[in-house]
Amino acid sequence: MGVKLGILGLGTVGTGTVQLLQDKSFRHPLLQEVEIYRVGVRSLDKPRAVTLPDSVLTTDLEAIVSDPAVDIVVEVMGGLEKARSLILKAIQNGKHVVTANKAVISRFGDEIFTAANQAGVYVMLEAAVGGGIPVIQPLKQSLSVNRIHTVTGIINGTTNYILTRMQTEGGNFSDVLADAQRLGYAEADPTADVDGLDAADKIAILASLAFGGRIKLKDVYSEGIRQVSKTDIAYAEKLGFVIKLLAIAQSAAPLAAIANRTTPSSPSSPSSPLISVRVHPTLVPKAHPLASINGVNNAILIEGEPIGQVMFFGPGAGAGATASAVSSDILNLVAALKKSKTALNPLLACAHQDYCQIVPMAELVTRFYARFLTKDQPGVIGKLGTCFGNHGVSLESIVQTGFQGELAEIVVVTHDVQEGDFRQALTEIQTLTAVDSIPSLLRVV
Ligand SMILES: NC(=O)c1ccc[n+]([C@@H]2O[C@H](COP(=O)([O-])OP(=O)(O)OC[C@H]3O[C@@H](n4cnc5c(N)ncnc54)[C@H](OP(=O)(O)O)[C@@H]3O)[C@@H](O)[C@H]2O)c1
Repeated sequence: MGVKLGILGLGTVGTGTVQLLQDKSFRHPLLQEVEIYRVGVRSLDKPRAVTLPDSVLTTDLEAIVSDPAVDIVVEVMGGLEKARSLILKAIQNGKHVVTANKAVISRFGDEIFTAANQAGVYVMLEAAVGGGIPVIQPLKQSLSVNRIHTVTGIINGTTNYILTRMQTEGGNFSDVLADAQRLGYAEADPTADVDGLDAADKIAILASLAFGGRIKLKDVYSEGIRQVSKTDIAYAEKLGFVIKLLAIAQSAAPLAAIANRTTPSSPSSPSSPLISVRVHPTLVPKAHPLASINGVNNAILIEGEPIGQVMFFGPGAGAGATASAVSSDILNLVAALKKSKTALNPLLACAHQDYCQIVPMAELVTRFYARFLTKDQPGVIGKLGTCFGNHGVSLESIVQTGFQGELAEIVVVTHDVQEGDFRQALTEIQTLTAVDSIPSLLRVV
């Protein structure tokens, strides 16, 4: 029997998730066991980008979270109070929950996770931070043996887009914001983004996972980008920096020891980690891994011991990216539900027996760079071009770059070609008396 989903919301994220789940060509066979059982929306009359049976779509979200047939509730409706109460009701009714709602988790995580632990259900939130970037599961699992020192993120695409354009075009904050709103990169009310509140929600979640303690949102210092001027960006550039809105969670133990400051702002046990959590515009050295993260992209740099530095980079929003994260949570829950019936966890066990078919190198389609040493005679470039043409190899550029002793040096870059055709052209070229040697042959991405 399939695992039944009750999805709350069919907007950007909900639609992307339904599309991904409906397309059975996606990768993991466990996804085939998922049934989209109910989808809750505000309006039944709205045109939808996905086709669902009439019996699936409903405006009664309360009924979804209390329906005994539903195994997993996927909350992708957004907002605060309604989402919070539906999540709590789902938990009380013994359902596992997947949510993309950083605002609810950062504010009500304490209540939600306490309820989930009591009810013996999971609340999964991969899409809540970094959109499609898998960062929650790595923090919970793959990196969990490390002592984390710092988590530094560019985790708000709107502000990174604005700062990138101010940097590249020398524009004012207000002009670039207005343009970003016109192009759909910023909301009509941009407060949550430009004042750093969205990034604060997200770093609170990451800090909690990285340092193993709950975080009160009011303890997260947050300063937005409204006061960043094009003058500051230009001076920073001269000094070798770019300005980024960074969300930082950092172990403060060494700092506290230096400053002899041991009183954290929230009550906690003596063993609670002492950390600083903050969001603010920051001068980042150009050589820093986060300096080159531009536009709406997100990245999270995690530094710890013994791992050193790892960075996660990718799309922080969008239907497909977020659906990938939501569906990975669903997959994990399906695996957990199946685990009770089978001996092995299907996500940890090897799930395939057949061999992949590997394309022979001769059939590989790629671009090539080749460097030739030839006699300094007229017409050599033409002869090379003819040989390439004979084998259907089209050239992006062919230039004589200089001399090595008596020999002329000619560099060729091809368009995409089949490797076998390119090799045949080279074989023919090697028979030309004007060609001395081919010292370099590299593939180009
Ligand atoms: N968009 C992204 O790229 C992205 C990325 C990461 C995380 N998230 C998070 O994912 C969540 C959803 O975002 P979204 O962009 O998909 O939102 P959205 O496009 O505004 O969609 C919201 C959906 O929820 C439904 N809904 C909202 N309130 C409802 C209510 N009270 N009763 C019934 N249905 C209700 C709406 O129904 P109607 O369609 O009938 O109006 C709509 O289908 C948010 O928490 C957001 O922060 C979004």
